[in-house]
Amino acid sequence: MRRTRYVAAVGAAALLLAATAACGAKDDGNKAEVFTWWTTGSEALGLEALQGVLKDKHPDIAFINGGTAGGGGSAKDVLASRLAANDPPDSFQAHAGAEMLDYINSGKVQDLSNLYEEFGLTTAFPADLLDLVTKDGKKYSIPSNVHRANVMWASIPVLTEVGIDFNQITYATISDFIADLEKIKAANPDITPLTVAGTWTQVHLLETVLIAELGPEMYNGIWDGSTDPAGPEVGAALGVFETLMSYTNTDSEGEEWDFATQKLIDGKGAFNIMGDWVPAQFVEQNQIMGTDWTWAPAPGTAGVFDFLADSFTLPVDAPHPDGAKAWLDVIASVEGQAAFNKVKGSIPARTDVNLSDFSEYQQQAAAAYAQDTIVGSLQHGAAASIAQGDAINKAVAKFRSGNSNLSEFHAEFAKAVTG
Ligand code: GAL
Repeated sequence: MRRTRYVAAVGAAALLLAATAACGAKDDGNKAEVFTWWTTGSEALGLEALQGVLKDKHPDIAFINGGTAGGGGSAKDVLASRLAANDPPDSFQAHAGAEMLDYINSGKVQDLSNLYEEFGLTTAFPADLLDLVTKDGKKYSIPSNVHRANVMWASIPVLTEVGIDFNQITYATISDFIADLEKIKAANPDITPLTVAGTWTQVHLLETVLIAELGPEMYNGIWDGSTDPAGPEVGAALGVFETLMSYTNTDSEGEEWDFATQKLIDGKGAFNIMGDWVPAQFVEQNQIMGTDWTWAPAPGTAGVFDFLADSFTLPVDAPHPDGAKAWLDVIASVEGQAAFNKVKGSIPARTDVNLSDFSEYQQQAAAAYAQDTIVGSLQHGAAASIAQGDAINKAVAKFRSGNSNLSEFHAEFAKAVTG
């Protein structure tokens, strides 16, 4: 069976070839083929840090990077085809919450409850985070990190140039924010007031607009069925999104999130709304917080923590179960979580990691996570299932390219939610 699949794959695309090569490694030793979409910048550094810990803790296990670029978009499609072809990696990145539930319900991942016992993890994570990787009392993945999605990043030199006080950018409402976007547009038409990259980053922006306009409770209601996605409130929020999109750059097609941050660094953009994997990109380019860049909660979302967590799985039929176990041991460990999160920009999922040498931003994020109202990210699989996320991405791409009007977009959004 495996041999037939192997032969078939040889004739297929390069992607499948690569996957099959990893699969073919099955018989020759201890390996862990790990699938992520962490291929550049802070994300690649985070993965490297984990490899370092793997080398220390399990020197006999060779790390195989089975990842592919493509953020929350095309990378997930690659993973889905591998899983559908029963050609899984040894472990893959999955978001705690609705996305994880998809993998559990479709029978793609193994119960890790025994590893939780063996690694002594039963009290290592916050209970509500564990709930998001648990079904019927069984735990199916190990969380590595917690990111905040509703963050707005800003270029201090650009804001200063257009006469906006960078200490005054915690906007209570999106209308207040739009007033400043107008100001930027009027002051210098060469500056993009609000930068975006490809479709998934626009969906990311959209989720923060929904949170701001609906409030956390109604936003949560979209996902638990208590808010009608076809209702007028959601329609109005989508209208606000349309207005915000009119202040964005139009050269974003197919670009990854770092493209939008780079515009701030290059003095070509003022604001960007993105998760807190962004700071490492500033830091990498010697940009100093408080001098070159700053941040605030996404407009209208102060006091809310739009949450997502990456976690790692043991797929059914993983070719190197020992390698997978070693990898999961690294993910679960205090050393792994400290090394990884420090460079990735997230906060450790474990509650017992010492944060004293984490960045100022990360310490602020940890404080916000402890005290803010938590909502789950749409784009990053905490609140929305894979199918909902895909359909919303399609609706946004269509709207952005002018192939649907606002009311058609609203209808498609509602259909994407209800299925
Ligand atoms: C998210 C993921 C983060 C980060 C981001 C950008 O979905 O959870 O860890 O990598 O995508 O690629």
